[in-house]
Amino acid sequence: MSPYSFPGEDALRRRWHNPEITLKSIGLRSGMVFMDIGCGYGFFTIPAAEQVGENGKVYAVDADAAAVEAVKRKAAERGLKNIVAKVGEAEETVFCDACADMVFFSIVLHDFRDPAKVLSNAKRMLKPDGTLVNLDWKKKRTVFGPPVQIRFSEEQAQALIRQAGFTIESVKDAGSNFYIVTAKP
Ligand SMILES: C[S@@+](CC[C@H](N)C(=O)[O-])C[C@H]1O[C@@H](n2cnc3c(N)ncnc32)[C@H](O)[C@@H]1O
Repeated sequence: MSPYSFPGEDALRRRWHNPEITLKSIGLRSGMVFMDIGCGYGFFTIPAAEQVGENGKVYAVDADAAAVEAVKRKAAERGLKNIVAKVGEAEETVFCDACADMVFFSIVLHDFRDPAKVLSNAKRMLKPDGTLVNLDWKKKRTVFGPPVQIRFSEEQAQALIRQAGFTIESVKDAGSNFYIVTAKP
């Protein structure tokens, strides 16, 4: 189980951000190909699959087998057939080349063993006009979430994303505890 997962987590998180609204706000639309890297228990994976619909596709990867099982179970319960979910390291995962409209990281960039490698894989997977989206905790103390010392500030995240060859498109607050950086390959 992820160190940040606990019973009732989904309900609590929905008080901070609504995944459906967040995904709409970053431009997710019907028919798109969306990649949820470090997908966890599917807080964003499942709403993304509902939003892209049967003409779209969601690829999801996580190193935690129990998390991926939970994503598959939730997909089956909802009759979603447009999710490909696998257990694996994001550092070793390239689902396909230049095929993604959106590569999405949610509260995970700081967890990767090698964020630069994961960003380089993201660049490879994105279409030329695709979008990288990095949603993360602000680097400040909060009641929940990872320890402040391992969090990336907006500036740290932007620097890593730039170093991987992306152009930053926008940096926005997502409520008082989170930010969203979007970038183009
Ligand atoms: C804080 S959780 C976030 C999960 C999900 N993105 C969300 O918003 O609910 C971080 C997830 O990243 C996964 N993870 C950490 N390092 C990873 C890696 N190198 N490759 C794949 N998944 C990884 C963990 O197993 C965990 O499920």
